[in-house]
Amino acid sequence: MTSARSQTGRFITFEGGEGAGKSTQIRLLGNALEKSGHTVLQTREPGGSPGAEEIRSLLVTGDGDRWTGMTEVLLHFAARADHLERVVRPALKAGTWVLCDRFVDSSMAYQGIAQALGKDVIGELADLVVGTTMPDLTLILDLPVADGLARAGARGEGEDRYEKMGHAFHETLRQAFLDIATDAPERCKVIDATQQIDGVHRAVWDATAARFGL
Ligand code: TMP
Repeated sequence: MTSARSQTGRFITFEGGEGAGKSTQIRLLGNALEKSGHTVLQTREPGGSPGAEEIRSLLVTGDGDRWTGMTEVLLHFAARADHLERVVRPALKAGTWVLCDRFVDSSMAYQGIAQALGKDVIGELADLVVGTTMPDLTLILDLPVADGLARAGARGEGEDRYEKMGHAFHETLRQAFLDIATDAPERCKVIDATQQIDGVHRAVWDATAARFGL
C-alpha cells in the first residue's frame, strides 16, 4: 500500500470513531479548498457511487450480527471497488481534490482490529482493491468514545448498526485509529476533535496546508 500515483488530484480521507464530526469538517475543508481555486469532490464510504450506496444500506442497518466478519469485510471492499473505479480514480485523474469520509483505515480499525478479522486479511484486500490509490493525507478525528457516541446518537439517522456495538468495541476502535496514525506518520495526522467546530477546522486546514504547501 503506497501512495505513489501519477494523478494530479489530491486524495484526502477523514477517519475516526462515531460522532467525531467528519462530515462537518469535510464540508468546511471542501469550501476552503474551493475558495483557494481547487476543484473538489466530497464523497464517502461505504457509498459514494450508486452501487456502493446500495451496498451501504446492507452494512449500516440491522442487527450487529447480521453478517459474519468475512462477509462484512467483503461487502465493504466490494463497495470500495465500485467507488474507486467509477468515482475516485476518474476524479483524481481529472485533477480533482477528492475528500472522502472514511476509507480503508476504517476497514482496518473496524473489521481488522475491533471485529478481530486480522490485519493480514485487510492488507491483502487493500492490495487487491486499493492498490496504489492510497490517500495523500488522512486526518484522524479523535475524541473520547462517550462524547462521540452521544453526538452520533443525537443524530438519530437510523444508520446505527455500528453505533450499537458497545463501549468496549468503540474503545478498541479509538486505539486502532491512533495506532494506524503511529504506524503511518507520513500520511496520517491526528486532530483533537473535542474542540469547537472552528478550532477543529483550523487544525484540519493547517494539516492540509502543511502537507500540500498551500
Ligand atoms: P459513517 O457513519 O461514518 O457514515 O460510516 C458508516 C459505518 O460504517 C461506520 O459505523 C463505520 C463503518 N465502516 C466499517 O465498519 N468499515 C469500513 O471499511 C467503512 C468505510 C465504514
